[in-house]
Amino acid sequence: MRVLVVGGGGREHALCWALAGSPLLTQLWCAPGNPGTAALAENVPIAATDIAALVAFARAQALDLVVPGPEAPLVAGLSDALGLAGIACCGPSAAAARLEGSKSFAKEICAAAGIPTARWERFDEAAAARAFVRRRGAPVVVKADGLAAGKGVVVAASVAEAEAAIEAFMQARTLGAAGASVVIEECLFGEEISLFALCDGAHAIPFGAAQDHKRVGEGDTGPNTGGMGAFSPPPALTPDLTEAAMARIVRPALAELARQGTPFRGFLFAGLMLTADGPSLIEFNVRLGDPETQCLLPRLHSDLLPALLAACDGELGDFALRWRPEAALAVVLAARGYPGAYAGGSRIGDLAPAEAVPGALVFHSGTALQDGALVAAGGRVLTVCGTGPDLPAAHGAAYRAVGAIAWPDGFYRRDIGRRALGGG
Ligand code: AMP
Ligand code: GLY
Repeated sequence: MRVLVVGGGGREHALCWALAGSPLLTQLWCAPGNPGTAALAENVPIAATDIAALVAFARAQALDLVVPGPEAPLVAGLSDALGLAGIACCGPSAAAARLEGSKSFAKEICAAAGIPTARWERFDEAAAARAFVRRRGAPVVVKADGLAAGKGVVVAASVAEAEAAIEAFMQARTLGAAGASVVIEECLFGEEISLFALCDGAHAIPFGAAQDHKRVGEGDTGPNTGGMGAFSPPPALTPDLTEAAMARIVRPALAELARQGTPFRGFLFAGLMLTADGPSLIEFNVRLGDPETQCLLPRLHSDLLPALLAACDGELGDFALRWRPEAALAVVLAARGYPGAYAGGSRIGDLAPAEAVPGALVFHSGTALQDGALVAAGGRVLTVCGTGPDLPAAHGAAYRAVGAIAWPDGFYRRDIGRRALGGG
């Protein structure tokens, strides 16, 4: 099998790591990849959103499978373009990817399929949005309708905060066109869980779950980020709740998309709130999570490659995946300043001592090589994953490895998994 992974972050490094172990693999490429993927795959200098160049490469190399990591190429039609070229792609069509690309589309699917989710309304006019927020009161959640790389959501504790978000998104256009319309919704309370399913258009199989840490600061303070750390499995998501979420959220969404003529193939990521009334959907993503993937794939016992091929071939109906009875915990090392402005180019010390910690894996999220030296080249720079027989062991391995990395310009949260470990 000749396989291309699309993307260049920690999730894609983890995907390359899992695929590189497959006995079915002949050759692996990653576009554009990073210095971490370069050790496992051949990096191809094509941007993840350059659909034409990716399809041309896939044709020229007669690829058997393309595995997109991020949502942007999917929303832009990578899967459709590869389909026309006769190349399998484990990701949804542009039409099905609107589940992530448009928050209002996702909400309409929820309404049509009876999926539990926060009550919401969409606004194209700032004045109407403001009036609604004043009428409804706080707490309330303001979301830019378009894709905003995790920066388009404000959980507003006060009406003033909600009004400031409306002003920023709709009038100052801090997110460009993505903020032209907003969705304003009810605030949900509970444990937040990332649940993953692998889908073939008609069938969905659970692909593990993780708990992310979205806020930049310890104790879940400060602005939202792409995710500062994650662990798997999350104890809060019992097998019963997993089944409830599959039955009430994932499968109805899949059935509704199929009914509308846009079947969903690939990874479906359901962001859940475990409320007092059961799992409620916060959002759908049409891909794996980052950093969730870095703590999911080390727990996967089965070969990933046949599962991805089965998803492409509509053969997940009687497919089963095996998981290791282990826990994994991933800590993100980010550049000082992230998720605001940060400087690139700072030197990162030797990673070998961290990689040598038993049970630890170091994934590159935003690194580059400069004159042979590893430097930071992104907001989230490294993801260090620890694995072990249980969560405390995984936590220990992860933080021992983090402690072995010398990077004075970076920071990380010291409390990843603390609540699940009973630390309040
Ligand atoms: P999203 O991009 O929709 O996942 O939102 C980013 C984050 O905002 C989520 O991970 C939640 O932590 C929070 N959030 C979004 N919607 C809600 C909601 N309705 N109630 C409470 N928190 C929310
Ligand atoms: N970590 C959340 C995401 O990938 O969207």
